[in-house]
Amino acid sequence: IPIAVFASGSGSNFEALVERAGEGPTYNVSLLVCDQPEAAVIEKARRFGIDVFSFRSKDYPDKATFESEILQKLRDKSIEWCVLAGYMRLIGPTLLRAYEGKIFNIHPSLLPAFPGKDAIGQALDAKVKVTGVTVHFVDEGMDTGPIIEQIPVRIEGDRTRLQHDIQRVEHDLYPTVVKQCIKGEKAT
Ligand code: GRF
Repeated sequence: IPIAVFASGSGSNFEALVERAGEGPTYNVSLLVCDQPEAAVIEKARRFGIDVFSFRSKDYPDKATFESEILQKLRDKSIEWCVLAGYMRLIGPTLLRAYEGKIFNIHPSLLPAFPGKDAIGQALDAKVKVTGVTVHFVDEGMDTGPIIEQIPVRIEGDRTRLQHDIQRVEHDLYPTVVKQCIKGEKAT
């Protein structure tokens, strides 16, 4: 089943999704969509031989226009599911309507706590003892869609340690949940 990963940054979750695709025939990462042409994730995709659609939002008059172009690329590759992995942008109506209930996101907190940017920093500032990772379906809001799975992570050190602990959970959880949902074994 062809899926697209949307990412804007370093792409460690992209890499985990690609590496875990090989375990059993469920999904195939057929396209990377990236809105930051200099992002490290692009080099990772090239190394895996995965096609990339990269663009700069400022080259388009509005979101509807660049999302229409993304949609065309998704259709060209018969993409069935979209997996957001650090795509730092809200998905607009063009993509939401075309892929209703078929867009995943991963967020480094136990939503609805700490939505938006720098969820890890928000958790540290709030001095909570436990934060975590959430995988959810995407709707028009910022980190608001129906929750599929959550894993708690205890805060046991500084920011670097917490980032590391969260990433370890993310890299295992995201491919697992995406596979289960695609197979129809899991829902919200
Ligand atoms: C992850 O922490 C994810 O939860 C958030 O963005 C980050 C992406 O990191 N949505 P990476 O580019 O996959 O390393």
